[in-house]
Amino acid sequence: MKVGMLILVPAMFLATSLFFLQIPGENGMVGVAPTALAAEPLDSQAAATPSAGGADTSYSYVGTNKCKMCHLKEHRSWKKTKMALTLDTLKPGSAVEVKKKYGLDPAKDYSTDKGCLKCHTTGYDHQGGYVLADPEDKKAVRRAKKLAGVGCESCHGPGSAYIDVFMDIFKSKRKYKVEELYAVGLLKMDAAVCAECHNDKSPTYDAENPFDFEKMKDEGTHEHHPLKQREN
Ligand code: HEC
Ligand code: HEC
Ligand code: HEC
Ligand code: HEC
Repeated sequence: MKVGMLILVPAMFLATSLFFLQIPGENGMVGVAPTALAAEPLDSQAAATPSAGGADTSYSYVGTNKCKMCHLKEHRSWKKTKMALTLDTLKPGSAVEVKKKYGLDPAKDYSTDKGCLKCHTTGYDHQGGYVLADPEDKKAVRRAKKLAGVGCESCHGPGSAYIDVFMDIFKSKRKYKVEELYAVGLLKMDAAVCAECHNDKSPTYDAENPFDFEKMKDEGTHEHHPLKQREN
């Protein structure tokens, strides 16, 4: 599957899902055509660099839209969080008061500042992750959009390999043990995942109110729905 075909994926999803049973369970799953999915990295040309996310560099980022197909509910609620829009925070005129408070220039465009992008996008500088696109290159711009903000893979790890396993679990409806996914890049959720970005390297980090993992985990990521196929 070539990168250009990725643009067709939403259309393919709409068209092909008509042929599949819709299963709107409490876990947010719906029926989709697995053929509409590909684990092709969004930018397979990007060089592998040591990962900041604690994620294994043998995996690439595939983009939030790939997860949306099977996790509509999580996606819908995630989209409403500030994390989904956090690339916009870097643009001039947004979050003016916070920027002033922490000595940042509210008139400056930080959305091309590499020092900021690593925490305000998904997989910046990693294989398949966010790249600063040439505005003339429409294809690259579209690709980058799918990795703007703190997306699914910022917390769950680059999906190129575990998405195939999820596809198999989805199609076969079999039970699984989560270790199977950890072995192919899904991150075990703990405080360290968040601490990659929620730390004192953030120019707006409030040392008086350090990041509280348990509280933020429940409040701020997305709605949670019970897993039905997980065995452990
Ligand atoms: C180490 C990761 C990291 C880096 C680097 C980083 N940020 Fe952030 N940024 C965060 C996190 C996490 C938050 C959420 C609140 C907090 O902990 O500061 C945040 C929040 C913000 C906010 C507040 C948004 C709001 O709505 O309250 C602004 C503004 C911001 N960042 C601007 C920047 C700019 C400009 C840069 C580059 C000069 C930058 N950040 C670099 C992680 C980072
Ligand atoms: C890739 C970097 C990154 C990672 C990893 C990350 N965050 Fe964030 N988070 C941010 C940034 C940047 C913001 C600031 C968003 C803004 O205001 O623009 C933020 C904001 C938040 C917010 C406020 C959201 C809102 O709508 O007000 C919560 C809650 C939060 N993060 C929880 C978490 C938790 C829990 C984890 C780990 C499971 C985590 N984050 C992992 C970068 C990250
Ligand atoms: C800021 C970090 C963060 C982001 C971004 C994020 N998640 Fe999660 N996700 C979590 C946490 C925390 C849990 C709960 C894990 C636990 O309790 O062991 C979770 C759990 C899940 C689960 C298990 C079932 C459930 O509903 O709890 C699924 C499925 C999931 N996430 C999918 C997604 C998808 C799809 C996206 C993108 C649309 C996404 N996540 C974005 C942090 C994140
Ligand atoms: C083809 C459908 C499909 C796609 C695409 C998909 N998943 Fe899932 N995912 C599943 C299924 C099925 C489960 C198990 C659901 C259950 O047990 O109820 C699952 C479970 C999960 C869990 C919970 C794992 C656990 O046991 O703790 C996370 C986290 C998750 N997915 C994240 C993602 C992310 C991130 C992406 C995109 C990179 C993604 N998924 C793409 C089908 C999919």
